[in-house]
Amino acid sequence: MQEKILDFLSKKQGYVSGDQISHRLGVTRQALWKHIQELKNLGYEIVAVPHLGYRLDSCPDRLFPYAVTRELNTHFLGKKVYYFDSVSSTMDTAMQLGMKGNPSGTLVLAESQTKGRGRLGRNWFSPKYKGIYLSLILKPRVLPARASMLTLLSAVSICEAIKEMTGIDTQIKWPNDILAGQKKLGGILTELVASVDEINFVIIGIGLNVNNDKKMLISAATSLKEQKKEFVNRITLLQELLRKIEVNYLLLEKEGSESIIEKWRRYNITLGKRVKVYCQREHIEGEAVDIDTDGGLLVRKDSGIIEKVMAGDVVHAR
Ligand code: BTN
Repeated sequence: MQEKILDFLSKKQGYVSGDQISHRLGVTRQALWKHIQELKNLGYEIVAVPHLGYRLDSCPDRLFPYAVTRELNTHFLGKKVYYFDSVSSTMDTAMQLGMKGNPSGTLVLAESQTKGRGRLGRNWFSPKYKGIYLSLILKPRVLPARASMLTLLSAVSICEAIKEMTGIDTQIKWPNDILAGQKKLGGILTELVASVDEINFVIIGIGLNVNNDKKMLISAATSLKEQKKEFVNRITLLQELLRKIEVNYLLLEKEGSESIIEKWRRYNITLGKRVKVYCQREHIEGEAVDIDTDGGLLVRKDSGIIEKVMAGDVVHAR
């Protein structure tokens, strides 16, 4: 009912009488009053004036499922949303939900994480209401060996959404670092539940620094607020991100990897550089020459031999 009330109020300019809302939505005046109080407690600024009715003045900076899915207009992504004020990690929650059979496109959102994690066992700093922390359950029709295409696809989608909503140019450092002004703005963590030849489901975890103040960030990190010098609306950015992921996901299913890799090349800053890729116990050094159709990085070593790396930490030498 609260969602219906918000929808009704947001479509009207100015005041709407309590009678009109009660009548249209089939609630008593008393119940309406209670719902309005609850919405106010959630941070919605609703002005109530006797004889005039209610007016919605502003919505809170919260990623409430209602606000995120409203006018989202996706086909399958975000049709089911789980929202938390705080979780240990959206990856763990999504994993449990995936195991319970939640459908492809299910979105897990949190306003903060107590144990947000990054790649290679690192922590992901997830302060409350400052960033976007999400995990998506996806069930792509690709072989497990191709799952890293989803990481590239997500990276492209992040860059596209940021450009569209803020005008900020971002870059991708292989495989999954999103940079702005040469500092880390976001990252992607991909986890997989699969057998040898079939993906059961994939979890794409995305962390983005949005409204973090500069003084709260380590020197190697940045936020959209720091880059743009103004507050960024997390809801509209998240909506655009979900739309872009869906578009690129459908493109991948229809046209295959090359369509995504082509877009990825436009944003990447790794190809053409001399790199050191640290993988578990060894490191590979050479020139990053291309991306393979499975998302692996092709590195030409000084011996001339081209080696493919599927995961690792890249350091750009020049
Ligand atoms: C990286 O760059 O190392 C990847 C960072 C991924 C962070 C996101 S935040 C939402 C999701 N939940 C997590 O615990 N991690 C991912």
